[in-house]
Amino acid sequence: MSEDETPIFAAARQANEVLHGGAPALPRPSHPRIITIANQKGGVGKTTSTVNLAAALALGGLGVLVIDMDPQGNASTALGVDHREGTPSSYELLMWEHAVEDLMQSSPHAERLFCIPATIDLAGSEIELVGLEHREHRLAEVINSDDLVSLGIDYVLIDCPPSLGLLTVNAMVAASEVLIPIQCEYYALEGVGQLLRNVELIQQHLNTSLEISTIMLTMYDGRTKLAEQVAGEVRTHFGDTVLRTVIPRSVKVSEAPGYGMTILQYDAGSRGALAYLDAAKELNSRADRLAAIAGSGSAASGAEENR
Ligand SMILES: Nc1ncnc2c1ncn2[C@@H]1O[C@H](COP(=O)(O)OP(=O)(O)OP(=O)(O)O)[C@@H](O)[C@H]1O
Ligand SMILES: [Mg+2]
Repeated sequence: MSEDETPIFAAARQANEVLHGGAPALPRPSHPRIITIANQKGGVGKTTSTVNLAAALALGGLGVLVIDMDPQGNASTALGVDHREGTPSSYELLMWEHAVEDLMQSSPHAERLFCIPATIDLAGSEIELVGLEHREHRLAEVINSDDLVSLGIDYVLIDCPPSLGLLTVNAMVAASEVLIPIQCEYYALEGVGQLLRNVELIQQHLNTSLEISTIMLTMYDGRTKLAEQVAGEVRTHFGDTVLRTVIPRSVKVSEAPGYGMTILQYDAGSRGALAYLDAAKELNSRADRLAAIAGSGSAASGAEENR
């Protein structure tokens, strides 16, 4: 914001830029990043963060694929893609019936934003997977870094259900990064210990390439002391892994999915939109640091080595 801009003028300018392609282009990561958004605690902002980060990255000119691994299908709804019963979906992907490129639908919200939706079929798959071969590797096996490059995908974001069952395990085995949203509320860290232990088990036995790359503070209410305390505690615990950008609690953010939109379409000039644009920029800026730490090699090949 320049010095003579009022906040309202700045918001209007930002909305115009975001929606009319004037938003600054984001640099492409050197290889596709596959990020699983997980927390078995319900309602912490997994889906909201998945779809809004995806939209922000895509509006920055990057190719983004969201895989909806939650039978609730909320990410599919927010991205405005068909997920009625019978639509080819993430279920067919897990069952190895179709490839990524056959299942991804274009989201109307941005040119290079895609989604493999979740339908009700996914609801029974936790049980169905138990009896299948390679049950933890089903997703990893069908996501291939070279294919993503040829499809122009820079980011795969996988939205998980609120459980640590086989759908979440598949998402973690297919990914190289986990992003954990933490709600700035009472009991924020409840269950995080369990989640970290599960990630550790997956790192040891199923996917050595996996790392918790990002923790994101969501639903931050700046008027309360509690939010500040929770944020402080999370930062003390997790240091640099926590994004500097904090997502504010905002009614607009919660209203957007009801209109089949992300916050960037619903109100691009709002505080929530600005926060997700900043978070996406920050997430993207960490790509090279991570590449340097991890070295090259896809998550799928990491999973392969650990069979
Ligand atoms: N920043 C925010 N401000 C206000 N409301 C929010 C914000 N982020 C998310 N919400 C609302 O909180 C609720 C839970 O969010 P969301 O569905 O993203 O969580 P989730 O972790 O995906 O939930 P589930 O575990 O059921 O999959 C939703 O009603 C959502 O609209
Ligand atoms: Mg969700």
